[in-house]
Amino acid sequence: MDKNEIWLNFIEELKTRNDIVDVVASYTNLNRKGNRHWACCPFHHEKTPSFSISPEMQMYKCFGCGDSGDVITFVQKIESTDFMGAVEILANRAGLQIPQTTVDKGVQDKKKRKQAMAQICLESARFYNAHLFSPQGQFAIDYLKKRGLSVSTIKRFGLGLSPDWDGLKRHLYSKKLSLELAYECGVLGKKGDRYYDSLGERLIVPIINSLGEVIAFGGRSMKKDVDFAKYKNTQQTDLFDKSKNLFGINLVSKKKKQGTLDYIIVVEGYMDAIALHQAGFDSAVASMGTSLTKEQAKLMKRYVERVYICYDGDGAGTKGTLRGLEILKAEGLDVRVMSMPDGVDPDELILQYGAGAFQQAMDDALPLTDYKLKIEKTHFNFNSKNEADRQDAKRKYTIKALEIIAQLGHPVEMESYLIKLSKETGFSLDWLKRSLAGEKQAAKQQPAKQNGNQKFVLDQHKKALYYILKCMLAGEDYATLNFELDLDDDEFLTKSFAYVNKCKSEDKKPVPSMLVDIFEGKYKENIDYLQETVFTTTIENKQFFADCAKLVQKNQVQNQIEKLTKQSQDEPEQEKRKQLWSQIATLNKQLIEINKR
Ligand code: UTP
Ligand code: MN
Repeated sequence: MDKNEIWLNFIEELKTRNDIVDVVASYTNLNRKGNRHWACCPFHHEKTPSFSISPEMQMYKCFGCGDSGDVITFVQKIESTDFMGAVEILANRAGLQIPQTTVDKGVQDKKKRKQAMAQICLESARFYNAHLFSPQGQFAIDYLKKRGLSVSTIKRFGLGLSPDWDGLKRHLYSKKLSLELAYECGVLGKKGDRYYDSLGERLIVPIINSLGEVIAFGGRSMKKDVDFAKYKNTQQTDLFDKSKNLFGINLVSKKKKQGTLDYIIVVEGYMDAIALHQAGFDSAVASMGTSLTKEQAKLMKRYVERVYICYDGDGAGTKGTLRGLEILKAEGLDVRVMSMPDGVDPDELILQYGAGAFQQAMDDALPLTDYKLKIEKTHFNFNSKNEADRQDAKRKYTIKALEIIAQLGHPVEMESYLIKLSKETGFSLDWLKRSLAGEKQAAKQQPAKQNGNQKFVLDQHKKALYYILKCMLAGEDYATLNFELDLDDDEFLTKSFAYVNKCKSEDKKPVPSMLVDIFEGKYKENIDYLQETVFTTTIENKQFFADCAKLVQKNQVQNQIEKLTKQSQDEPEQEKRKQLWSQIATLNKQLIEINKR
């Protein structure tokens, strides 16, 4: 047995001993309805259950957020751990030994290296924090206090101060930590063969992931010097990718576990997020200056349905911001856009006007469509002194507004925006509706957007094959075929049936969710489809299986006949033609037999 096979066998055993229904039930309440078990999705906020488990497939799927997977994926997500972390938890649960010889040494080394890196980051954070609270750090504490932060907030966020360019290096060295690895963590820089503190002499903001590990730092310059970038962040490392993290996610994650998280507030800056937490808005995270990414949106979607975006007065409405908002929307988040007075950021707003002003801004937040319409409106001069210019502005705005409204999903939503638009522009509602219909037509003719929401469609023949596969995976004793499948280059079906056949030859029951491991994350849609296929262990299923088998066999024979017929037509030699004809005749007889069944 090669290493990979030993590993797959172990995963198979792991899954057999960890029934997904039991595992999920240990985290959340399940209700059995029909052949599936249902719960409120633990990965997104909801009131009516759309998270469901298929016991036959040993897989889950949330029909709300679209998330799906097997028992390992589930534990990975709910425990916020990686694949090996989840395997460990499940192995412990079932009293199984992870076959050490087979755990990819590379994987293990990587894990150890990451742990060592997190250790270095943690030690660096401690060092910076201790310096901030030493007499030499007093000036920085004064600075933070002047900015309105209390000592308890400073402690809560573990803020720190870098004393100079060498101190961190010496500290890490005294703790016997690898300077080379510290360099790879980004906390040390290197000039020639000399290491130095990457964030030397800066005020330090530790960035902590949802597991509570320090993974990077933001460093604010305390100098007025223009040559000095105001903020410097840890560069991308194996622990930290700015585009995949959010500052403050650790606190939000904690709040989620306490069951009190209703939404997330996204701001740009570290100081904004910190000020918000201090003011009682403890659902705030900072995007750290970049425009929002898909990964960040997915991260938030794990915790909430609604996101308030609060960017600086001068940053809102820019292309970058709008793109970020569309990304959030595309992940299915309910986006609310807050407005700040020009040139004021949330931190300054709270400092100057108090928490009430921020609350007001939240109450006034606009849904994404309203916000887009508002931004669009600022591009046209509705108040021109010239009547013709005013009319022109209205027309042009209306055209843009219809484009925006046409993107809405629901007719009721569209109608309400059209009514508003009619009031704003004086165009009749009826005319706007007709224009919108044209707009939607145009949108349809545009090439389909790749938003990954395309439905997975199968023809009748493939559907039958999937059903056959599912019955076989479920180990139904009636699920046998008396003919060979022709899977014409369908990799998913070929490998899946190969797995079923391998199990059969080894006389063991297949573990359906092994498909996840066999395909290593590929063919997710296909596996989901299998999971969703209606299935119960009843007599009718047996009949349905037989019907599917019949359909598939019939199609295969028919295809074969067509192929041979074509061949015979192109065949110049009489003798060979005759051979083909006799083959076709046999197949035709077979077809009649099949039809009789
Ligand atoms: P801001 O300049 O708005 O930061 O940049 P801030 O949080 O309000 O800082 P204070 O109040 O002046 O201390 C927003 C975010 O953009 C990133 C940082 O993450 C910052 O928090 N940024 C900004 C950088 O990475 N580098 C910079 O030079 C500036
Ligand atoms: Mn600021």
